Amino acid sequence: MSNFPPLVFSGVQPTGNLHLGNYLGAIRKFVALQENNDCIYCVVDLHSLTAQLVHEDLPGQIRSIAAAFIASGIDPKAHIVFNQSAVPQHAELAWIFNCVARIGWMNRMTQFKDKAGKDRENASLGLLAYPSLMAADILVYRATHVPVGDDQKQHLELTRDIAMKFNLDYQAHIRNGGKGIDITVGEEPVHAYFPMVEPMIDGPAPRVMSLRDGTKKMSKSDPSDLSRINLVDDAETISRKIRKAKTDPDGLPSDVEGLAGRPEADNLVGIYAALADRTKADVLTEFGGQQFSVFKPALVDLAVSVLAPITGEMSRLLADTSHIDAILRDGGERARARAETTMREVRDIIGFLQ
Ligand code: TRP
Repeated sequence: MSNFPPLVFSGVQPTGNLHLGNYLGAIRKFVALQENNDCIYCVVDLHSLTAQLVHEDLPGQIRSIAAAFIASGIDPKAHIVFNQSAVPQHAELAWIFNCVARIGWMNRMTQFKDKAGKDRENASLGLLAYPSLMAADILVYRATHVPVGDDQKQHLELTRDIAMKFNLDYQAHIRNGGKGIDITVGEEPVHAYFPMVEPMIDGPAPRVMSLRDGTKKMSKSDPSDLSRINLVDDAETISRKIRKAKTDPDGLPSDVEGLAGRPEADNLVGIYAALADRTKADVLTEFGGQQFSVFKPALVDLAVSVLAPITGEMSRLLADTSHIDAILRDGGERARARAETTMREVRDIIGFLQ
């Protein structure tokens, strides 16, 4: 339905402590996609102000996401890795989208409702407008494919709504300028300036849970560091955390149904499966009937072989920031050039003098 050249875009907020859940849920997907696609990966520092206006170490948090991308294998020369605030065109397009999108659309976002809580009048305007900036991130490059977690699906639907309303509201101007691409929406031919983005939410992303409590998500804010594997942990630490991970007294079941009601066993089998790129059923075919005293060492070996090269490289990259800073500067320049090409056309479509 869309003839836009395929382009992958995704963003990750700068948060201090990246862990195994972030790696398996997002970064690993980004790495896989770069083989066959043009990709832009962004550290969304403007978005991070909606959660926390003042960061203890924002530069360090931005670098640590970029370092995780690079350590995991993203090629910053073939693709683009940059931080959002380096490209002011994101904020410029977000303003225009603020005037396209309706307050009602924003009020319906479940993430806004969750984060604003009961006292909505006191939430920042930025938190309400968050999805409009996210739409601008993607559409300022006219990106077509967006790998994200399931929780971002609603924001991507809103991105399509914004793109479509812009395309329709400015239809005559887009046709005049000859900058659009013919697409069909349902049966309707539309000369679209912005593509209808496709979410890439392949399969149920592994839900990585705390190593201390299999009913809670692995989280950077858990007070116990033993609850998570951080992307800066060395091999010895990864191994110790898995050996200490909570389990129950039984052996492993031979099928997935047998994991019901056993959240810790389910989590460790899920982590093994994700790291090995196998299904849980497949892992249980191998380990069903075995005790944790056998399974855990196997998981340690696997986790160390997959993660230690990444965590080692990430620590190295963060020890001397000049390399990461150069990558971000270069990515920012290339991103800015592409975003500016779009914004020149957008300003023209709208009728701003330039
Ligand atoms: N909202 C996304 C998240 O919290 C982060 C994000 C910002 C993003 N802009 C984006 C993701 C653009 C994909 C595309 O995970």
